Amino acid sequence: MTAPAPPAAGRSGRTQVAIVGGGPAGLMLGQLLHLAGIDSIVLERSTREHVIGRVRAGVLEQGTVDLMHAAGVGAHLARDGMPHRGIYLAFGGMRHHIDFASLTGGRGITIYGQNAVVHDLIEARLAAARPLLFGVRDVELHDVRGLAPRVTWHDADGARGEVRCDFVAGCDGFHGVCRPSIPVDAGTVYERAYPFAWLGILADAAPSADELVYSLHERGFALFSMRSASVTRLYLQVPPGEDVNAWGDERIWQELHRRLDTSDGWRPNEGPVSQKGVTAMRSFMFEPMRYGRLFLAGDAAHIVPPTGAKGLNLAMADVKRLAAAIVEFYATGRGAALDEYSPRALRRAWRAQRFSWWMTSTLHVAEDATPFDRRRQIADLEYLVSSEAAMKSLAENYVGISLD
Ligand code: FAD
Ligand code: PHB
Repeated sequence: MTAPAPPAAGRSGRTQVAIVGGGPAGLMLGQLLHLAGIDSIVLERSTREHVIGRVRAGVLEQGTVDLMHAAGVGAHLARDGMPHRGIYLAFGGMRHHIDFASLTGGRGITIYGQNAVVHDLIEARLAAARPLLFGVRDVELHDVRGLAPRVTWHDADGARGEVRCDFVAGCDGFHGVCRPSIPVDAGTVYERAYPFAWLGILADAAPSADELVYSLHERGFALFSMRSASVTRLYLQVPPGEDVNAWGDERIWQELHRRLDTSDGWRPNEGPVSQKGVTAMRSFMFEPMRYGRLFLAGDAAHIVPPTGAKGLNLAMADVKRLAAAIVEFYATGRGAALDEYSPRALRRAWRAQRFSWWMTSTLHVAEDATPFDRRRQIADLEYLVSSEAAMKSLAENYVGISLD
């Protein structure tokens, strides 16, 4: 089957794929479809400034880096991305290096902020001159069980929009409208709440280590990361629902030093704090990731706790698979790859879920942890840094499995 001529989807009309959500998943899907000559509209609730300004993920697996290049949006990443060949694990006042490159046959990760990823994808969308609407309200899905779904919304200026389409892609994150549009008896939720949250800051300070430091301290978890040669990103485990205003800069630095400084003299550099926020942690899975002609991708279908740095990478893996399935459908008229989308994406997501749960439980201190639990955690970490098999297991999960 040949793809219909791309219609001009705007306030109303027809398109091939209606994409709800202009985060990394929605924008990358739009770009991959565009490269295959398939039309789409991207409907985003927030403003462009808000979407680009949102500070979130920072670790890209090689598969995500490769996808950015294949999608033609890798120029800034090639220039500004920071390739890392491993991470440090810190506990008992000592830092231990886990060398991913030697454990996985040369693979590593790249540090590049999610907001830079989103910025690059928005530039590409604008250059492609395909529709991308910011500030939309009241998005509703209609007839997604049939062959002719519709999506309606209100523009930022209040005007009603409507588009008919072949497929709807639910890329609208955990709090979006697509997953709740699916009848409750058509899916199953698996979830787990964690008794901690992360307080994250960005500081105008040169990173004092060349790679990330994940630290387990008796006062709780801390993470040293970065965004550039002059910006450090840091996280502290805090109780769920913690008020960010309870954390003045002085208190934050004091706590970071307590949990991160190691006996070899290493400590994070301090600098003016430019951003601060608290993030809840949860594991969440919705199965299946398809309802008729609605396909869920990214955080709309699954949430992992951030300790494994997997959320953005999973979102990218989903849309790579979904784009290929949609392209195959238009090229051949067959829906086999679309049928395979949910089971294959879920297999990968569960694997990331398991790893993220493990990293989270190994490195955080629960309020009700007993002295036995603490000793067992340390024993786990001591085993990890002394066994090549254990380090290899961490390394191959952290750098990510192939996106295919
Ligand atoms: P989102 O980024 O949530 O995008 C969804 C979009 O849909 C949003 O722009 C939203 O405004 C829009 N939307 C919502 N509702 C509607 C609606 N009704 N109508 C229209 N639009 C709507 N992942 C990693 O891989 N590595 C990391 O290092 C990492 N670190 C993280 C650190 C923190 C502190 C946090 C919070 C997350 C981290 N993640 C990490 C996870 C990662 O940020 C997410 O998994 C990623 O944003 C998922 O992308 P997405 O496009 O699926 O969803
Ligand atoms: C980040 O740099 O924001 C980051 C790094 C590693 C994680 C989570 C977040 O596990």
